[in-house]
Amino acid sequence: MSSDITATAAWRKLRDHHSAIADRNLRELFAEDPERGRELIVQSADLRIDYSKHRVTRETLDLLVELAETAGVAERRDAMFRGEHINTSEDRAVEHIALRVLPGTSLEVDGEDAGAQVHEVLSAMGDFTDSLRSGQWRGATGERITTVVNIGIGGSDLGPVMVYQALRHYVDAGISARFVSNVDPADLTAKLDGLDPASTLFIIASKTFSTLETLTNATAARRWLVDALGEDAVAKHFVAVSTNAERVAAFGIDTANMFGFWDWVGGRYSVDSAIGLSVMATIGRERFGEFLAGMHSVDEHFARTPLHENAPVLLGLLGVWYSNFFGAQSRAVLPYSNDLARFPAYLQQLTMESNGKSVRADGSPVTTSTGEIFWGEPGTNGQHAFYQLLHQGTRLIPADFIGFARPTDDLPTRDGTGSMHDILMSNLFAQTKVLAFGKTAAEITAEGTDPKVVPHKVMPGNRPTTAILAPELTPSVLGQLIALYEHQVFVEGTIWGIDSFDQWGVELGKQQALELAPLLTSAEDPAPQGDSSTDALIGWYRDHR
Ligand code: F6P
Repeated sequence: MSSDITATAAWRKLRDHHSAIADRNLRELFAEDPERGRELIVQSADLRIDYSKHRVTRETLDLLVELAETAGVAERRDAMFRGEHINTSEDRAVEHIALRVLPGTSLEVDGEDAGAQVHEVLSAMGDFTDSLRSGQWRGATGERITTVVNIGIGGSDLGPVMVYQALRHYVDAGISARFVSNVDPADLTAKLDGLDPASTLFIIASKTFSTLETLTNATAARRWLVDALGEDAVAKHFVAVSTNAERVAAFGIDTANMFGFWDWVGGRYSVDSAIGLSVMATIGRERFGEFLAGMHSVDEHFARTPLHENAPVLLGLLGVWYSNFFGAQSRAVLPYSNDLARFPAYLQQLTMESNGKSVRADGSPVTTSTGEIFWGEPGTNGQHAFYQLLHQGTRLIPADFIGFARPTDDLPTRDGTGSMHDILMSNLFAQTKVLAFGKTAAEITAEGTDPKVVPHKVMPGNRPTTAILAPELTPSVLGQLIALYEHQVFVEGTIWGIDSFDQWGVELGKQQALELAPLLTSAEDPAPQGDSSTDALIGWYRDHR
């Protein structure tokens, strides 16, 4: 049996401590410890992370760090960095940190120099994207490539599309990108709309090169291209990103046009591998290098900073604090940056596919909840949709607010005297303030409010938030943000004793979809599937399709 974290002295101390402080209010905590707003801050590279508006005292933080020590967070982190097989259910190393090591760093994984392998692929990606961007690589008819279409799903889509959108200011060289993921034909059809096959390059991105959605879309895209330009055009219009050269070749893509990665990179940890080829094609190899350097700076911080000042450790511990001691189910991620609109969706796979587990690494059942539910929308849109529940609802939803000092775009305000970005950021500051400190019945009554309305206007406050601020949304800062969350996932998973790097829970649905597909169209009546609901759903579909 893995050791049960809930049976440790560190856990018991936290439980007792929780009973003592659960009713404490952030107003009191700030009154007692007026410097906390200046001191409960951690800096990791460009990220200034304010965790003062959490329902913790300095004692809580000490106890949480003790929990991390008890769970062996530092030892397991070091084992991950050393390339040990900490993904035990798949017997694999977990080495995404190797994807952003500095050139010349040697890092042994499974007897190979992962650092050297990574830089070899990065250099091949750089040469290829340089040739695309300079117009040296041309389509079959001699046209320049102006659109890359990434076909992939899950980690082979969410990372690239999020980063591409976030870094739209860095997109240049006349190449833009589109992303196709869903097996719903509406996705591919809409994304091909208006494209000229002669100037379009498809990147088929799939770690396994066996994913139904991706291979189905890739086949349809190939048909679209061949119908327009003929079979010989495929070599100039299709490249692949995969760990599986055999399947790439079987699909008909020349492996000379394949960019590889390794089984020690999990799909949801792969945006900084060759899976980021579409991003490199659109922003260039230097900017992509800055993105990797940003990730590396947080890796260094995570690897070397003492636990009580270590940003991913502290934020992961706070996730555990709310999930397991306050019973919180979810965490909102609220970027005050429209360019980060897809960041919450990206984090959903990163965090939920990693930590949505019910058994510990040795197969024994967990004894506490795992896996925060991540969700969110960019501010200020969320304010006009779901913040009502954050402010006055009955559920406790910790929230991460992300904002920048300098905007990627700015426009004057209505009267022409101010900046729209200042308005955006004033909303971030106001929301974190109101969520923490609320407004009491006495304060509302003192404003002369009708007594009947007072209870409706009370803002309970005491809603925890983290404010993550950075100077500007650059490639490096985006890389830092991603690594910050990657390592939080690791910290939480280690405390829960689970394997954050497998995803067996997605397999059965895929397998059964393959088994059910022929029944939807078979000439004979389909065999019963073992439950009346599935039989009736399939029957209805056959009658109405
Ligand atoms: O959803 C399951 C999953 O295996 C993810 O972990 C992965 O990112 C996605 O499918 C796509 O897999 P592939 O890159 O192998 O096509």
